[in-house]
Amino acid sequence: MLCWQYLTQAVETPSQAMRQKRVAMSVLLNDEQIEILISESEIKARINHLAKEISDTYKASDQLVVIGLLRGSFIFIADLVRRLNLPVEVDFITVSSYGNEMESSRQVRIIKDLETSIKNRDVLVVEDIIDTGHTLAQVLQIMQTRKPKSLSVCTLLNKPSRREIEVDVTWTGFDIPDEFVIGYGIDYAQQGRNLPHIGFVRRA
Ligand code: IMP
Ligand code: MG
Repeated sequence: MLCWQYLTQAVETPSQAMRQKRVAMSVLLNDEQIEILISESEIKARINHLAKEISDTYKASDQLVVIGLLRGSFIFIADLVRRLNLPVEVDFITVSSYGNEMESSRQVRIIKDLETSIKNRDVLVVEDIIDTGHTLAQVLQIMQTRKPKSLSVCTLLNKPSRREIEVDVTWTGFDIPDEFVIGYGIDYAQQGRNLPHIGFVRRA
């Protein structure tokens, strides 16, 4: 279900026109430049595909609970759940992670807990990006103590080369290289969440 090929096609072998468009669409954020890695239409196509697979997997489920990790997953989860062909409940959890840094603290603390009981429910945790894996591993541990019927993960982005701890991820939008990215809900020092695409941060 991983998507390296898709990403490689989109990023490493774009036509000349596409390459020019990517550069032209770059935007400046403070002193940093955003180089587009995944375009809005590429994200949309991938989410359509993920939503079909997820809808199929949970078609016999009573009512799925989709849990977004705030704040980074808010745009992804909004687009994903609207394409699910299922009765679905949505809840959010906020855990501490990077603050305003580019490095993970590797320590996770719940800042805002779920409002829904997930006991005996099918639970899908939706994450923006998995880097070292510590955030998700600890969130999943906490969720497991609440005895869900099933527990799965869908992440939009994954940086496999950065993994420090194993996490079981069922659905991945895109595997990406070890670079700091922003856009489509994902921030750098709280900026860039509103970009419609995902891009690398470059010093201008
Ligand atoms: P992990 O605990 O190292 O896996 O970090 C996961 C969290 O760090 C993600 O949910 C993001 O919120 C944040 N993060 C990881 N990589 C990036 C990045 O490239 N840009 C912005 N946030 C990131
Ligand atoms: Mg996150």
